[in-house]
Amino acid sequence: TYVIALPCVDVKDRACVDECPVDCIYEGERSLYIHPDECIDCGACEPVCPVEAIYYEDDLPEEWADYYKVNVEFFSDLGSPGGAQKLGPTHVDHPLVAALPPQGE
Ligand code: F3S
Ligand code: F3S
Repeated sequence: TYVIALPCVDVKDRACVDECPVDCIYEGERSLYIHPDECIDCGACEPVCPVEAIYYEDDLPEEWADYYKVNVEFFSDLGSPGGAQKLGPTHVDHPLVAALPPQGE
């Protein structure tokens, strides 16, 4: 699966959302998250992110290794909604993201 890491937090550019053919990039309050089972590894999202937040799981930089689990665990309660557009923004975050100080600026 592909994974969204720290640079997305408090940026949420959303360019990635328009590229995903299976609509598996879900919106949280401070970050977006890729559904590990719905993502088909097409890679279309990765080059369009202006802050380079998206990585194939095996290519995640060491300092952001936790974000594999962050993307997976974000869906522990949500399950597999089968489409981010119909679900809409969730207004929640993985605890690790929620605990971060404000990013950017
Ligand atoms: Fe975030 Fe980059 Fe997508 S900032 S919303 S991962 S385009
Ligand atoms: Fe979608 Fe990116 Fe996966 S475009 S299918 S989330 S690799």
